[in-house]
Amino acid sequence: MKVLLVGSGGREHALAWKLSQAPDLAELHAAPGNPGIAALGHCHPVRAQDGEGLLTLARSLEADLVVVGPEAPLVDGVANELRHVGVPVFGPSSGAAAIEGSKTFAKDVMRAAGVPTAESLSIARPPCVIKADGLAAGKGVFICHDQAELDDALQAAAAFGDSIVIEELLEGEEVSVFALCDGTRAIALPAVQDFKRAEDGDTGPNTGGMGSYSPVAGFGPAEVEEVMDTVHRPVLEELAERGASFVGVLFAGLMLTDDGPRVLEFNCRFGDPETQSLLPRVNGDLLGALARAAAGDLSGVELEVSDDAAVTVTLAAGDYPAGNDVGSPIDGIEDAEQAGALVFHAGTALNGDRLVTNGGRILSVTSTGVNVAVARERAYAACELISFAGMRYRNDIAAMAHV
Ligand code: AMP
Ligand code: GLY
Repeated sequence: MKVLLVGSGGREHALAWKLSQAPDLAELHAAPGNPGIAALGHCHPVRAQDGEGLLTLARSLEADLVVVGPEAPLVDGVANELRHVGVPVFGPSSGAAAIEGSKTFAKDVMRAAGVPTAESLSIARPPCVIKADGLAAGKGVFICHDQAELDDALQAAAAFGDSIVIEELLEGEEVSVFALCDGTRAIALPAVQDFKRAEDGDTGPNTGGMGSYSPVAGFGPAEVEEVMDTVHRPVLEELAERGASFVGVLFAGLMLTDDGPRVLEFNCRFGDPETQSLLPRVNGDLLGALARAAAGDLSGVELEVSDDAAVTVTLAAGDYPAGNDVGSPIDGIEDAEQAGALVFHAGTALNGDRLVTNGGRILSVTSTGVNVAVARERAYAACELISFAGMRYRNDIAAMAHV
């Protein structure tokens, strides 16, 4: 099978790493990819957002499958265009990707499908949460405990120019549950936890994600399967009824409240850096499953998952979540790999032969082990072998995980 992978982050490097182990893989291509992915396949200088360019590339490569990493091209309809010319795609059409692209659409689908979520409020009064409606790269959600925070939030949300959603403020642990979907069926991946804040102790600004780990204590296969039945499958059914069948990863961000799991958000794709902790745990044939989902038939497919734990630590540039800190040489990746870690590239670039930083999240370092504590110790030991100017990472990823 010839596969074209769209995207350039740590998530896509982890996908490339897993797909390159598949017995059925003939050629791996990426658009645009990154220096880490280039070691596993052929990178083409086509941006993930360039729908026209992707269409031309997929056709000229005669790709048997296109796997789309990031949300923006999906919300823009890249999967529609590829399917329209007969290219199989793992990733939802724009109509289905609206589950991530529009918070009001997601709320409407959840209401119709009877999915437990935070209650929508008609009046903004603290405590509450204000959300900008459209894609905001994780920066459009404002938690308001008091009137001052609410005033700031309303002003900040208005800057996004979209309508807003007001909802009740929920308390609890957060967990993410991904399912591979073929339009009607959902196959679960293990629960995973992400660390969104930039600094230790969940302080500092929100980011794309500073680390992740799996499994999550108290949220094993039985709990995940219950979420499939109460969240993922009803949403698939509702979307299909609306003529927007969902093919790809349906990612539910859940809050585990005293009254049970509540959906905070949906994403229409693999999470980053959750994927880096999930794929090393998947022993089964991921490529086969993605191809079957793209073909609309996951019947009988099972993905074997190992009992091992995985922990991922994001190594970010000094100024992250800003992205201007670029061009610093990176050292120590081979040492970390020799120590047994997986090092996935995100914001890296080549300056001649020299690997340098390219802003934002630079690398993710993933280790596995018999439990989260062992995996965590290995991941942090590997991080200490890597260096670049301004390198920052959180020290408390998975520190409170009792698995
Ligand atoms: P979202 O993009 O909707 O997942 O929101 C980003 C983050 O905001 C989530 O991971 C939660 O930490 C927080 N959040 C979103 N909605 C709520 C809510 N209703 N109550 C409490 N926290 C929330
Ligand atoms: N790590 C959160 C996300 O991928 O949306």
